[in-house]
Amino acid sequence: MSYNLLKGKKGIIFGALDEKSIAWKTALRCHEEGAQIILTNAPVAMRMGEINKLAEAIGAPVIPCDVSSNDDVENLIVKSMEHFGGAVDFILHSIGMSINVRKGLTYTENNYEFSHKGFDISALSLHRVMAYAMKHDAINEWGSVVALSYIAAQRVFPDYNDMADNKAVLESIARNFGYQYGIKKNVRVNTISQSPTRTTAGSGVKGFDGFVTYAEKMSPLGNASAEDCANYIVTMFSDLTKMVTMQNLFHDGGFSFTGVSHAIIDQMEK
Ligand SMILES: NC(=O)c1ccc[n+]([C@@H]2O[C@H](COP(=O)([O-])OP(=O)(O)OC[C@H]3O[C@@H](n4cnc5c(N)ncnc54)[C@H](O)[C@@H]3O)[C@@H](O)[C@H]2O)c1
Repeated sequence: MSYNLLKGKKGIIFGALDEKSIAWKTALRCHEEGAQIILTNAPVAMRMGEINKLAEAIGAPVIPCDVSSNDDVENLIVKSMEHFGGAVDFILHSIGMSINVRKGLTYTENNYEFSHKGFDISALSLHRVMAYAMKHDAINEWGSVVALSYIAAQRVFPDYNDMADNKAVLESIARNFGYQYGIKKNVRVNTISQSPTRTTAGSGVKGFDGFVTYAEKMSPLGNASAEDCANYIVTMFSDLTKMVTMQNLFHDGGFSFTGVSHAIIDQMEK
């Protein structure tokens, strides 16, 4: 169902890799709600070809951008403004990558070259995107920037590895840049801390199925799906949430504030 919540709004969506991606579902929902969108992803991800299906479905141009490259990010911002003939109203940062996770290196044995790369792509990139947006005055007054996070930023989930550190910094960047962009242009910046979700990035984490089942049993409402997350992001891009900024917003069916659930106790007593 559409409520026209984003009618007349324009935005950039990072991170739609395939149909399972949170960014993919969000792009579809933003389109349904009346937004015009530019899609972007790393050139290597785009070569897999899936993103063109989405681009066609929602009539969106695709501009390649490796978020670890200053030039790519600046080019994306400039080209987006050319395409729209002005600034955008929202940006979704839906990007995560850890080479340490991918290579199966444990947290205590991380390779720092890998750590640097993962940090650059997963955390610093949010700063880079907003810095170039600010430089080119590319976000309209009361615009909204959302990045996706995970509760491993606050609590230990051992196999989430260096992504836990990356998410902690990501949330800090959202707070600190949120202050700067707020006083300058009333732009709001938030992170959404999402339930574990079966996507390419999610499934790369060791023991992911166990994570998902545990979180499901620990959350009074169950795990939030990628579709639920897309709906929440739409509200954060809409004018209905315009005074929310610098927050880490848990979107997890209650997981973050549950000490223990009956479902887990029952299982422990067996
Ligand atoms: N899946 C989960 O369980 C879960 C839970 C909480 C938060 N998140 C976060 O949600 C976000 C989206 O992930 P997802 O689960 O939809 O998985 P996904 O694999 O579909 O998306 C990750 C995206 O990051 C992109 N990316 C990687 N390196 C890049 C680079 N150098 N430049 C530009 N883009 C790059 C990938 O191409 C991909 O599109 C991530 O920040 C992830 O950490 C996921």
